[in-house]
Amino acid sequence: MKIFYEDDNTCLYFGDSIKILKKLSDGSIDMVFADPPYNMQLNKDLYRPDQSKVEGVGNTHWDAFSSFKDYDDFSFKWLSEVKRVLKEDGTFWVIGSYHNIFRLGKIIQDLGFWILNDIIWSKSNPMPNFKGTRFTNAHETLLWCAKNKDAKYYFHYHSMKILNDDKQMSSIWELPICSGNERVRSDDNKTLHPTQKPLSLLNRILLSSTTTESIVLDPFLGSGTTGVVAKILGRKFIGIDKEKPYLEVALNRIKNSTPEDLEKIQINKKIKKRISIGQLISEGYITTDTILCDSTSQNFATVKLDGSIETTDGEQGSIHTLAKQLTGKVINGWDFWYIKNSSQLIPLNTIRQTYFSQKFD
Ligand SMILES: C[S@@+](CC[C@H](N)C(=O)[O-])C[C@H]1O[C@@H](n2cnc3c(N)ncnc32)[C@H](O)[C@@H]1O
Repeated sequence: MKIFYEDDNTCLYFGDSIKILKKLSDGSIDMVFADPPYNMQLNKDLYRPDQSKVEGVGNTHWDAFSSFKDYDDFSFKWLSEVKRVLKEDGTFWVIGSYHNIFRLGKIIQDLGFWILNDIIWSKSNPMPNFKGTRFTNAHETLLWCAKNKDAKYYFHYHSMKILNDDKQMSSIWELPICSGNERVRSDDNKTLHPTQKPLSLLNRILLSSTTTESIVLDPFLGSGTTGVVAKILGRKFIGIDKEKPYLEVALNRIKNSTPEDLEKIQINKKIKKRISIGQLISEGYITTDTILCDSTSQNFATVKLDGSIETTDGEQGSIHTLAKQLTGKVINGWDFWYIKNSSQLIPLNTIRQTYFSQKFD
């Protein structure tokens, strides 16, 4: 078992997770967070419309498995070891996408873990579906599990409530993907890890399910996000990765992290509120066939069932496109359109703000 780095609070191992996990003692870990290979089965590189290459997992060797069976066998082995090393009151988190989360979920239940929640990480700035052939894949799923059905486990309910502006935290977490200064890059601006997770996500996970007494383990360390948050929150940490360059990135990040890193992220990443006409219709704030007009009551349009609007000239499009078409300027449709209500004009934006205040305040 090769120790890559060790100090009083952090221990990083270089090598295969299954082999290293086997060396750890039974019931020695309070919380495991795992971001394993997703087996994304990507056969080709992905390009943006401007032909620049998307820096993703692509054909990365550590994500490639010869078959679903091969992936399941690998998953069964590491998940069994995670179960063994967890303390009786410990919990286990795993993150995945539609490529792997259902397969992992089955094995997790077969092994006797007890799923406490499936959390949707809804990405507030997801990567678009460049080809326009599917819905934008805008979320990943986290499973949070106790060691077995009757196990007692730690959950910091109040921290979560405070983090959520004093409302009970739900299982849908809207957080941005890792970007900007947070993303680790080489001197020539290449990303140093293709699947770096945001600190805000790990912050929520560690705050909710660990204490300052906890030992946290990440068997697929990558760029070290879990280790960074563990250090900032004062938890003891064990990380494993089989790629030395990633361990170097992780160690560098862990050593250089300070509590201010997390504070900056929490301040910068306020949730953007968004709503569409379609959602306002389905939530009953606007009805189809509502007549919209501009502030001078010269242009009129009707709201359609699909959330588009149609002008009296038969032009159909979004509130923004038609506002632009009518004025010749880029204009926000929420500011341009009003609802004509007997003698009154009600700005469309007022309906939107009413929705936000009723949903979020
Ligand atoms: C999805 S990435 C983790 C990313 C990480 N959460 C972060 O924020 O940067 C998975 C990592 O697992 C490592 N890995 C894959 N198979 C492994 C194995 N059998 N043993 C140890 N590490 C492995 C890869 O090298 C990769 O860095």
